[in-house]
Amino acid sequence: MIPDLIVRNATLPDGRTGLDIAIEGGRIVAVEPAIPVRAAHEIDAAGHLVAPPFVDCHFHLDATLSLGLPRMNLSGTLLEGIALWGELKPLLTADAVIERALRYCDLAVAQGLLAVRSHVDVCDDRLLAVDALLDVKRQVAPYLDLQLVAFPQDGYLRAPNAAANLERALDRGVEVVGGIPHFERTMEDGAESVRRLCRIAAERGLRVDLHCDETDDPLSRHVETLSAETLRHGLHGRVAGSHLTSMHGMDNYYVSKLIPLMAEARLHVVANPLVNIVIQGRHDGYPKRRGLTRVPELAAAGLTVAFGQDCCMDPWYALGGADMLDVAHMGLHVAQMTSRAGMRACFEAVTTNAAAVMGLEDYGLRVGAHGDLVVLQARDAIEAIRLRPPRLFVVRRGRVIATTPPRLTALDLPGRPPQVDPAAYAPPERPDPG
Ligand code: FE2
Repeated sequence: MIPDLIVRNATLPDGRTGLDIAIEGGRIVAVEPAIPVRAAHEIDAAGHLVAPPFVDCHFHLDATLSLGLPRMNLSGTLLEGIALWGELKPLLTADAVIERALRYCDLAVAQGLLAVRSHVDVCDDRLLAVDALLDVKRQVAPYLDLQLVAFPQDGYLRAPNAAANLERALDRGVEVVGGIPHFERTMEDGAESVRRLCRIAAERGLRVDLHCDETDDPLSRHVETLSAETLRHGLHGRVAGSHLTSMHGMDNYYVSKLIPLMAEARLHVVANPLVNIVIQGRHDGYPKRRGLTRVPELAAAGLTVAFGQDCCMDPWYALGGADMLDVAHMGLHVAQMTSRAGMRACFEAVTTNAAAVMGLEDYGLRVGAHGDLVVLQARDAIEAIRLRPPRLFVVRRGRVIATTPPRLTALDLPGRPPQVDPAAYAPPERPDPG
């Protein structure tokens, strides 16, 4: 058989080098040195990093690219962002949501981001955004895996109709149960929302992903209830706690009991470094907390820890650009993961770990997996985070779906970048004063 595509001379994120990757019928059929057959189409990776696609397991596609609508978030805080989203929601039209979401998906594909878990707000009785994103999910399916979470932004118990709307959204095909316990009226309501949402997921056979303890309050401990309910319903490995920023400020003794409970439940952890570092600690004087959850400690306990982007040009965050290497870069800094293993773990947080959170099957650069990969202009995963380089080729099911020309960079340090002409540094000639 003639493969559809062979990528030659690849360096993989795990450090293996000089490998060829053959894809046939949309699947990887070989990962080995010097595959002796010619393919219909070949890419010379020239020793560059070839990675499985980037995965964003925490995003809000219904709000993305809406920056400035209907006005800017002047304070830059989470609560003004939620209030602003509340102003925008009644003004949304299906066409506008679909157009922005599709535009974002194009941006994602160009960056090699081919799987996104997006929360979709179900507190609008029209379920306009739900229907719009279900339409987008169908449209982008050939090139991007979109997974939707039914997210009661204004509180599952606090917002009128949120409970009924969440079930309606699940009935329409939204596949993950969301929630926001720290935004309920009381701690007890928050815990009750976790219990009800986990029960719904267990009864429907669905996964759970809650915005959980996205606060600086160290006594916000809904992750404890989430872990216990995961155990009660046997949802091990199917439940994600997103944000968990309160853990940053928790009492260390309490955390020494909490993390083993989370590990027992095989809870997935999703930190959102770009947003956590700007949203959390806003009520602190100095010193200000960073707010990111305890990433290295959770990973050391065996939990799957992923990084999400959360927001891109929306009521909460005016920046972002669908580049998961930006997310890894920020996570690396804020969590101080500067060991070699720590830096590589940050790359995994936006690839393999995020795929595990989403439950993506057939993901990865191995025989039998989907023929999906990204060729980056970097020598390894750490250099990819350092440079956030062009995605030279983005491949989906064995077909090239996006290309970016190589960039002139300081890739070959030491040495001068090619943009610089040393002659330009020479001082101007002065006339001899005689
Ligand atoms: Fe979020």
